[in-house]
This record gives sequence, structure tokens and C-alpha cells, in this order.
Amino acid sequence: MTAAPPRLASPKLLLATLRGVRQAIPPLWLMRQAGRYLPEYRAIRAKATSFLDFCYTPQLATEATLQPIRRFGFDAAILFSDILVAPDALGQRVSFEEGEGPRLKPIETAADLAALRDEADWSRLAPVFEAVARVKAALPDDVALIGFCGAPWTVASYMIAGRGTPDQAPARLFAYRNPDLFAALIDKLVELSAAYLERQLRAGAEAVQIFDSWAGVLPPGEFERWCVAPIARIVAKLRAALPAAPIIAFPRGAATQLGKFAAIDGLAAIGLDTAVEPCAAAAALPARFALQGNLDPLALLAGGRALEDGIDRALAGFAGRAHVFNLGHGILPETPIAHVERLVARLRASG
Ligand code: CP3
Repeated sequence: MTAAPPRLASPKLLLATLRGVRQAIPPLWLMRQAGRYLPEYRAIRAKATSFLDFCYTPQLATEATLQPIRRFGFDAAILFSDILVAPDALGQRVSFEEGEGPRLKPIETAADLAALRDEADWSRLAPVFEAVARVKAALPDDVALIGFCGAPWTVASYMIAGRGTPDQAPARLFAYRNPDLFAALIDKLVELSAAYLERQLRAGAEAVQIFDSWAGVLPPGEFERWCVAPIARIVAKLRAALPAAPIIAFPRGAATQLGKFAAIDGLAAIGLDTAVEPCAAAAALPARFALQGNLDPLALLAGGRALEDGIDRALAGFAGRAHVFNLGHGILPETPIAHVERLVARLRASG
């Protein structure tokens, strides 16, 4: 009888990097890498009646997730879904208006809050987990699958305002005027997010990202209470259930408050927005954190010198750290495909 062959180390560069192992060429994925800049996305998007139906149809969500992998060979796929499936599963129905973004019935009173479900309607989210399993089965061996959720603060900002707002003033005012009610909403979202990410990981996701897209509007006290503390609780719950789960937090706009994440045990990486100097992030966050980011999506859209310089600056700036190459925010719908191809080629030639 021959001995079993030794297990090869995972060929997934993203997962090695999230364990803190720097790669000669950083792994690459792009926030919103599935989406309207791809003609093949627009073609399947046209088949679904609504955006949420699209997210809740496993066959379509799987296809949208795989499209950018086939076209560009990124090192990771991110599940195609949306952060606003969370309020939807709590009974606050969400719709997406063409060209206008999300619409929800705003939460204005204690009664509105009390009308939410205590726990997510998991049957509504079942298609998401099915999509995760399908994607996992279809992905090449060297591509990692990332699951995600919105951070409680960012999701709550949509739940309170009922739509996207430039400065999240409705949620900030609600939190100042009704801190106990707002804390109850955040608690509900902490529970839901931890359970939701755990289910994505059990279904096949290999890492997860928590999107706090609107973290940057919060003053220090509120930043600690509504951004850092809830994310720390999600991380603690997830790590208690699945100790090896690699978790990325993306606190967009955290700026001088980035260092507050250093205290979160079990967080593997921080996603950085475009305005962060790599050396400032490296100084604020100990070496156990991988750093993800942070090419300007507009530099990718513009191409040419702006793109070449942006890539060079990111590669040089993060050279001392475990680095996941990404944008500083989501890819823009007008981005030329040739510029994404150029980014991939430049990066792969950089080792
Ligand atoms: O990254 C990926 O490719 C995975 C899919 C993904 C989507 N949304 C698909 C999507 C992810 C990770 C998100 C996260 C998300 N959704 C965030 C956090 C990240 C960020 O960009 O700050 C936020 C704030 C949302 C909420 C949301 N969803 C808004 C405000 C909008 C409308 C604005 C817009 O870009 O149209 C969406 C819709 C949405 N989510 C689209 C896509 C591809 C476009 C809708 C369409 O195709 O019809």
C-alpha cells in the first residue's frame, strides 16, 4: 500500500496572503468586479425582472460571479449579491429603481423597528447559499471564493433613510436622538451578519469581507460605537464558530481612525480606500494584518499614465506587507475592459 501523497499547500494566493504570507505578485480581485462594465453581465441582467430577483436566482448569480473570472483570471471571485439582502430578509422589503439605486420603507419610529423580524428569514436567503455552493464547485483550483455582507452601520444607514444619501444624515440624526433604539438595530444586524457570513462560509466561501462603505462620516465616538465595535463583535462570533475563517473589513473613509481596527483580534485584513497612504496604513496596523487596496477606480477608468502610475505607487507602497491588490472602491460601470486587461497584465509581469 502506498502512503497518501502529501497534501499540497493551497495554491490560492489570496488565502495565503490573508494568512499574512506576502506574495511575489500580490493576488488581485476588484470590488464590484461583476457588473455593468461587462457586456456579458448586461446581457444576463436583462433576463431578470428585478435586481433582487437576479441576486436570488442561483443560476444567474453564479454566472455573474464567474464572468469576471473567465474573462480576466482574477485570483478571487466575490459572490454576486448585495448588502441589502439583509434588510430584505428582516422583512424590510428592498427594491432597486433603474438608475436611482435602492429604495426601502424608511425606519422612523420604534414601531417601524419593532416590525422587523427578530431573525432573518433564512428561506429568503437560501438561494444565496445555493449560489455559493454552485460557484465553489465551478471555480478553478487556484481561485478563492469571497462571501460578504454590509457592516451594520452602512446597512442601517440605508434602513433608516430608505435610500442612499450623500452624508448619511438621517441615520446619524436617528442615532443621536434615539441611541437606544439605534443600538437595538445595530445589535440585530450584528447577529444577522455573523450568522449570514457563517452560513456563506459553510456553503463554500473561503474568506469574507465586511463592507463599511459609509464609515467615513462618523466622528470618533460614533466611529468606535457604530463601526468598530459592531465589526469586532461580528468577527468574535464568526471566529468562535469557525476559528480559521479569514475576515476582511473595508471601513471606507476611516482615514486617521484606521488604527482603531488594530485591536480586533482575528481580523485578517483591512481594505483601504483610495485616499489612504500605504505607509500610513502600515504604521496604523500591525504586520499581522494584510492590507488590501487601493488603486483609484477613476485611474482605472482613465487608463494611460494615470493607471500605470497608480499601479506603480500601490506596488511600491505596499511592498513591505502582505498585500491584496484591489481598487479603493468599486469598479465604475464606464470602465473600459482594455484597462482591466492592462492592470492584470502589468501586475502579473511585476514579480
Ligand atoms: O463586488 C461584486 O462584484 C459583488 C457584488 C456586489 C454588488 N453590490 C452588486 C451590485 C457587492 C459586493 C455589492 C456591495 C454593495 N451594495 C455595497 C458596498 C460596496 C460599495 O460599493 O460601497 C453597497 C453600498 C451596496 C448598495 C447598492 N447596491 C447600491 C447603492 C446600488 C445602486 C448603485 C449602483 O451602482 O447601481 C446597488 C446595486 C448593485 N449592486 C448593482 C450591482 C452590480 C447595480 C445594479 C444593476 O446591475 O442593475
